[in-house]
Amino acid sequence: MSEIRIDKLLSEMNYGTRREIKDAVKSGRISVDGLVIKKSDLKIDPSKTVILYDNKEVVYSEFEYYMLYKPSGVVSATKDNHYKTVIDLIDCEKRKDLFPVGRLDIDTEGLLFITNDGELAHNLLTPTKHVAKTYYAEIDGTVTNTDAICFENGIEFEKDTISKPACLEILESASISRVYVTIAEGKFHQIKKMFQALDKKVVFLKRITMAGISLDEKLSPGEYRRLTDEEIKKLKNPPRWRNTK
Ligand code: URA
Repeated sequence: MSEIRIDKLLSEMNYGTRREIKDAVKSGRISVDGLVIKKSDLKIDPSKTVILYDNKEVVYSEFEYYMLYKPSGVVSATKDNHYKTVIDLIDCEKRKDLFPVGRLDIDTEGLLFITNDGELAHNLLTPTKHVAKTYYAEIDGTVTNTDAICFENGIEFEKDTISKPACLEILESASISRVYVTIAEGKFHQIKKMFQALDKKVVFLKRITMAGISLDEKLSPGEYRRLTDEEIKKLKNPPRWRNTK
Protein backbone atom coordinates (compact mmCIF):
# COMPACT_ATOMS: atom_id res chain seq x y z
CA MET A 1 0.00 0.00 0.00
CA SER A 2 1.30 3.49 -0.75
CA GLU A 3 1.91 6.19 1.83
CA ILE A 4 -0.82 8.50 3.00
CA ARG A 5 -0.85 11.53 5.30
CA ILE A 6 -1.98 10.61 8.79
CA ASP A 7 -4.49 13.51 8.97
CA LYS A 8 -6.05 12.41 5.68
CA LEU A 9 -6.21 8.80 6.82
CA LEU A 10 -7.84 9.66 10.15
CA SER A 11 -10.26 12.05 8.53
CA GLU A 12 -11.28 9.37 5.99
CA MET A 13 -11.82 6.96 8.86
CA ASN A 14 -14.26 9.42 10.48
CA TYR A 15 -12.02 10.60 13.35
CA GLY A 16 -12.81 14.26 12.64
CA THR A 17 -11.86 17.08 10.33
CA ARG A 18 -8.23 17.71 9.44
CA ARG A 19 -8.33 20.67 11.85
CA GLU A 20 -9.60 18.45 14.69
CA ILE A 21 -6.95 15.88 13.93
CA LYS A 22 -4.25 18.56 13.95
CA ASP A 23 -5.45 19.53 17.45
CA ALA A 24 -5.45 15.88 18.54
CA VAL A 25 -1.86 15.54 17.31
CA LYS A 26 -0.89 18.68 19.27
CA SER A 27 -2.47 17.18 22.39
CA GLY A 28 -0.39 14.01 21.97
CA ARG A 29 -3.38 11.72 21.42
CA ILE A 30 -2.04 9.96 18.35
CA SER A 31 0.86 7.56 18.15
CA VAL A 32 2.47 5.68 15.29
CA ASP A 33 4.40 2.48 16.02
CA GLY A 34 4.53 3.38 19.70
CA LEU A 35 5.76 6.96 19.29
CA VAL A 36 3.54 9.97 19.91
CA ILE A 37 3.56 12.01 16.71
CA LYS A 38 4.12 15.75 16.48
CA LYS A 39 3.13 16.49 12.90
CA SER A 40 -0.26 15.88 11.32
CA ASP A 41 1.18 15.77 7.79
CA LEU A 42 3.33 12.75 8.62
CA LYS A 43 3.19 10.20 5.79
CA ILE A 44 2.77 6.55 6.68
CA ASP A 45 2.06 3.22 5.00
CA PRO A 46 -1.03 1.97 6.89
CA SER A 47 -0.34 -1.66 5.99
CA LYS A 48 2.98 -1.54 7.89
CA THR A 49 2.08 0.82 10.74
CA VAL A 50 0.24 0.56 14.05
CA ILE A 51 -1.72 3.75 14.67
CA LEU A 52 -3.28 4.46 18.05
CA TYR A 53 -5.83 7.22 18.66
CA ASP A 54 -6.45 7.71 22.37
CA ASN A 55 -4.66 4.38 22.86
CA LYS A 56 -7.16 2.56 20.62
CA GLU A 57 -5.97 0.99 17.39
CA VAL A 58 -7.14 2.59 14.16
CA VAL A 59 -7.86 -0.04 11.55
CA TYR A 60 -7.54 1.52 8.12
CA SER A 61 -9.41 0.15 5.13
CA GLU A 62 -9.21 1.90 1.80
CA PHE A 63 -12.50 0.35 0.69
CA GLU A 64 -15.36 -0.96 2.77
CA TYR A 65 -18.24 -3.15 1.61
CA TYR A 66 -21.40 -3.92 3.55
CA MET A 67 -24.65 -5.72 2.93
CA LEU A 68 -27.54 -3.96 4.68
CA TYR A 69 -31.08 -5.19 5.23
CA LYS A 70 -32.72 -1.82 4.59
CA PRO A 71 -35.86 -1.44 6.65
CA SER A 72 -38.88 0.54 5.53
CA GLY A 73 -38.90 4.18 6.71
CA VAL A 74 -35.20 4.82 6.08
CA VAL A 75 -33.91 6.78 3.07
CA SER A 76 -31.26 5.55 0.63
CA ALA A 77 -29.07 8.63 1.01
CA THR A 78 -25.98 9.73 2.89
CA LYS A 79 -27.65 12.69 4.63
CA ASP A 80 -31.24 13.75 5.19
CA ASN A 81 -32.88 16.48 7.24
CA HIS A 82 -35.98 14.47 8.16
CA TYR A 83 -35.34 10.76 7.98
CA LYS A 84 -32.75 8.32 9.19
CA THR A 85 -30.45 7.31 6.33
CA VAL A 86 -29.08 3.91 5.43
CA ILE A 87 -25.61 5.23 6.36
CA ASP A 88 -26.85 6.10 9.88
CA LEU A 89 -27.62 2.40 10.30
CA ILE A 90 -23.95 1.46 9.84
CA ASP A 91 -22.99 2.10 13.43
CA CYS A 92 -19.54 0.53 13.60
CA GLU A 93 -16.38 2.58 13.12
CA LYS A 94 -16.59 3.35 9.47
CA ARG A 95 -15.17 5.46 6.68
CA LYS A 96 -16.85 8.82 6.21
CA ASP A 97 -17.29 8.44 2.45
CA LEU A 98 -19.70 5.48 2.43
CA PHE A 99 -22.74 5.63 0.15
CA PRO A 100 -25.52 3.27 -0.92
CA VAL A 101 -25.16 1.47 -4.25
CA GLY A 102 -28.35 2.68 -5.91
CA ARG A 103 -31.59 3.48 -4.18
CA LEU A 104 -34.56 1.71 -2.71
CA ASP A 105 -37.71 3.76 -2.06
CA ILE A 106 -38.35 4.78 1.53
CA ASP A 107 -41.08 2.13 1.86
CA THR A 108 -39.07 -0.59 0.08
CA GLU A 109 -37.00 -2.95 2.17
CA GLY A 110 -34.29 -5.48 1.54
CA LEU A 111 -30.82 -5.86 0.10
CA LEU A 112 -28.69 -2.74 -0.27
CA PHE A 113 -24.93 -2.66 -0.71
CA ILE A 114 -23.02 0.13 1.03
CA THR A 115 -19.48 1.02 0.02
CA ASN A 116 -17.05 3.83 -0.79
CA ASP A 117 -15.88 2.06 -3.95
CA GLY A 118 -17.20 4.21 -6.79
CA GLU A 119 -15.95 1.94 -9.54
CA LEU A 120 -17.72 -1.08 -8.06
CA ALA A 121 -20.95 0.92 -7.70
CA HIS A 122 -20.72 2.09 -11.30
CA ASN A 123 -20.24 -1.49 -12.49
CA LEU A 124 -23.37 -2.59 -10.67
CA LEU A 125 -25.56 0.31 -11.72
CA THR A 126 -24.64 1.04 -15.30
CA PRO A 127 -27.45 -0.26 -17.54
CA THR A 128 -24.98 -1.71 -20.06
CA LYS A 129 -23.87 -4.32 -17.51
CA HIS A 130 -27.40 -5.80 -17.21
CA VAL A 131 -27.08 -6.63 -13.54
CA ALA A 132 -30.16 -8.52 -12.33
CA LYS A 133 -32.11 -7.46 -9.26
CA THR A 134 -34.87 -9.65 -7.89
CA TYR A 135 -37.69 -8.38 -5.71
CA TYR A 136 -40.42 -10.09 -3.76
CA ALA A 137 -43.62 -8.08 -4.12
CA GLU A 138 -47.21 -8.15 -2.92
CA ILE A 139 -49.67 -6.68 -5.36
CA ASP A 140 -53.18 -5.37 -4.78
CA GLY A 141 -54.93 -7.14 -7.66
CA THR A 142 -54.93 -10.53 -9.32
CA VAL A 143 -51.67 -10.95 -11.21
CA THR A 144 -52.02 -13.21 -14.26
CA ASN A 145 -49.88 -14.87 -16.91
CA THR A 146 -50.88 -12.05 -19.27
CA ASP A 147 -49.09 -9.65 -16.89
CA ALA A 148 -46.04 -11.93 -16.96
CA ILE A 149 -46.02 -11.74 -20.77
CA CYS A 150 -46.25 -7.92 -20.59
CA PHE A 151 -43.23 -7.88 -18.25
CA GLU A 152 -41.32 -10.08 -20.70
CA ASN A 153 -42.25 -7.96 -23.72
CA GLY A 154 -41.64 -4.57 -22.06
CA ILE A 155 -44.09 -2.14 -20.49
CA GLU A 156 -44.46 1.55 -21.27
CA PHE A 157 -44.22 2.58 -17.61
CA GLU A 158 -43.51 6.25 -18.36
CA LYS A 159 -44.31 8.33 -21.40
CA ASP A 160 -41.99 7.07 -24.18
CA THR A 161 -40.11 4.76 -21.80
CA ILE A 162 -40.50 1.05 -22.32
CA SER A 163 -38.98 -1.33 -19.82
CA LYS A 164 -36.40 -3.88 -20.95
CA PRO A 165 -37.49 -7.53 -20.75
CA ALA A 166 -38.25 -8.39 -17.14
CA CYS A 167 -39.28 -11.62 -15.46
CA LEU A 168 -42.49 -11.89 -13.44
CA GLU A 169 -42.89 -15.12 -11.51
CA ILE A 170 -46.28 -15.59 -9.91
CA LEU A 171 -46.18 -17.28 -6.50
CA GLU A 172 -49.85 -16.73 -5.71
CA SER A 173 -52.52 -15.16 -7.87
CA ALA A 174 -55.22 -13.76 -5.54
CA SER A 175 -56.80 -10.47 -4.48
CA ILE A 176 -53.39 -9.74 -2.97
CA SER A 177 -50.97 -11.54 -5.28
CA ARG A 178 -47.43 -12.58 -4.37
CA VAL A 179 -44.72 -12.44 -7.03
CA TYR A 180 -41.02 -12.32 -7.76
CA VAL A 181 -39.90 -9.67 -10.24
CA THR A 182 -36.45 -9.58 -11.82
CA ILE A 183 -35.27 -6.51 -13.69
CA ALA A 184 -31.89 -5.38 -14.99
CA GLU A 185 -32.72 -1.67 -14.84
CA GLY A 186 -33.24 0.71 -11.97
CA LYS A 187 -35.36 3.66 -12.98
CA PHE A 188 -37.10 5.67 -10.27
CA HIS A 189 -40.06 3.67 -8.82
CA GLN A 190 -39.66 1.28 -11.72
CA ILE A 191 -41.46 -1.77 -10.37
CA LYS A 192 -44.28 0.28 -8.87
CA LYS A 193 -44.73 2.10 -12.18
CA MET A 194 -44.65 -1.13 -14.21
CA PHE A 195 -47.50 -2.55 -12.14
CA GLN A 196 -49.31 0.78 -12.19
CA ALA A 197 -49.22 0.65 -15.99
CA LEU A 198 -51.11 -2.66 -15.68
CA ASP A 199 -53.62 -1.09 -13.25
CA LYS A 200 -52.20 -2.83 -10.20
CA LYS A 201 -50.65 -1.48 -7.04
CA VAL A 202 -47.53 -2.68 -5.26
CA VAL A 203 -48.33 -2.85 -1.55
CA PHE A 204 -45.09 -4.46 -0.37
CA LEU A 205 -41.67 -4.53 -2.01
CA LYS A 206 -38.46 -6.19 -0.85
CA ARG A 207 -35.24 -6.66 -2.80
CA ILE A 208 -33.92 -10.13 -2.18
CA THR A 209 -31.05 -10.53 -4.68
CA MET A 210 -28.68 -8.31 -6.63
CA ALA A 211 -25.83 -9.38 -8.93
CA GLY A 212 -26.31 -12.98 -7.83
CA ILE A 213 -25.91 -12.18 -4.12
CA SER A 214 -28.89 -12.79 -1.88
CA LEU A 215 -29.86 -10.94 1.25
CA ASP A 216 -28.39 -12.88 4.17
CA GLU A 217 -31.27 -14.63 5.94
CA LYS A 218 -29.55 -14.12 9.28
CA LEU A 219 -29.99 -10.35 9.00
CA SER A 220 -33.08 -8.64 10.41
CA PRO A 221 -34.35 -5.30 9.08
CA GLY A 222 -31.79 -2.60 9.99
CA GLU A 223 -28.93 -5.07 10.43
CA TYR A 224 -25.83 -5.28 8.26
CA ARG A 225 -22.63 -7.23 7.87
CA ARG A 226 -19.40 -6.84 5.95
CA LEU A 227 -19.29 -8.60 2.60
CA THR A 228 -16.99 -11.59 2.32
CA ASP A 229 -13.97 -11.51 -0.04
CA GLU A 230 -15.82 -13.90 -2.34
CA GLU A 231 -18.89 -11.63 -2.48
CA ILE A 232 -16.71 -8.57 -3.18
CA LYS A 233 -15.01 -10.45 -6.00
CA LYS A 234 -18.41 -11.30 -7.48
CA LEU A 235 -19.59 -7.69 -7.27
CA LYS A 236 -16.45 -6.48 -9.03
CA ASN A 237 -17.32 -8.69 -11.97
CA PRO A 238 -21.11 -9.02 -11.75
CA PRO A 239 -22.84 -11.75 -13.76
CA ARG A 240 -24.73 -10.46 -16.78
CA TRP A 241 -28.41 -11.36 -16.64
CA ARG A 242 -29.50 -13.88 -19.29
CA ASN A 243 -26.39 -13.07 -21.38
CA THR A 244 -28.33 -10.21 -22.95
CA LYS A 245 -26.54 -7.90 -25.37
N1 URA B 1 -38.75 -0.39 -7.91
C1 URA B 1 -39.54 0.42 -7.16
O1 URA B 1 -40.62 0.80 -7.57
N2 URA B 1 -39.07 0.78 -5.95
C2 URA B 1 -37.89 0.38 -5.45
O2 URA B 1 -37.54 0.74 -4.34
C3 URA B 1 -37.10 -0.46 -6.26
C4 URA B 1 -37.56 -0.83 -7.48
